[in-house]
Amino acid sequence: MQAPSTETIRTQLAHRTIRAFTTDRLPEPVVDTLMEVARHAPTSSFYQQTTIIRITDPATRHEVYEASGQPYVDGTRGELFVFVIDLYRNARIREAAGVDTAPLETTALFLQGAEDTLLAAQNVVVAAESLGLGTVYLGSIAGDPARVIQALDLPERTYPLVGMLIGYPDQSPQLKPRLPRKITQGVNRYPSFDAVTTDLSEYDSVVTDYYDLRDQGARLDSFTHQIRTKLGTGRAERSPIREVLTAQKLALR
Ligand SMILES: Cc1cc2nc3c(=O)[nH]c(=O)nc-3n(C[C@H](O)[C@H](O)[C@H](O)COP(=O)(O)O)c2cc1C
Repeated sequence: MQAPSTETIRTQLAHRTIRAFTTDRLPEPVVDTLMEVARHAPTSSFYQQTTIIRITDPATRHEVYEASGQPYVDGTRGELFVFVIDLYRNARIREAAGVDTAPLETTALFLQGAEDTLLAAQNVVVAAESLGLGTVYLGSIAGDPARVIQALDLPERTYPLVGMLIGYPDQSPQLKPRLPRKITQGVNRYPSFDAVTTDLSEYDSVVTDYYDLRDQGARLDSFTHQIRTKLGTGRAERSPIREVLTAQKLALR
């Protein structure tokens, strides 16, 4: 049988992150539809532990930009959303009923909130791309999550997991090549990492080619070079997230 292909699958296989947007605003019915799609995402245990905040105020957007440190977050191009892990709502429901809120402080519940939040976000990505829009996740807001918490007036038991810009693409990047399935997918057990040296070096040269084409030779880092030298060095990767989570009463045990 031939590999199946639908509009949805073609959209997903054509995914590219877009970081430059035109000045065109998203029409309100489009924003509404994207938010409806987010609302329909699966939710772990039906707890619905996520909240999405649309940023329309320039000063608030500037704060998110400062937290992220990424130039394309500032200004007015692309609609900005922040996807928040939200255990506050359910804590309020339990408090109102006089029920213990301690279960909301476990790592398990926090992870469930993270799952809900990213699933809602990725539903939005797929829908947006199916409409010809571009998106970029902003994990970079983890560079200063406390600043985002303050700017958005986020209560305890919430955490801004990712931002997202959505807009009309003003660039057309190549598809970014992923590791081969032989390395990243297994059947019944973890795929062996011992015999992949050749596959990895082949992949390295594919990645080098990608950057070469995208940035006109400015950046030639192979995948393994990035893992050796870049991993752990980014602002968001060095951020004191544990302290922020503890202050927010999340994942305490
Ligand atoms: C959770 C998450 C956070 C991300 N954060 C950022 C970010 O802060 N800034 C950015 O420019 N891209 C961000 N990205 C986009 C990745 O850099 C991008 O998906 C990756 O390089 C692969 O490229 P592609 O999406 O074009 O295939 C993020 C992606 C994910 C899934």
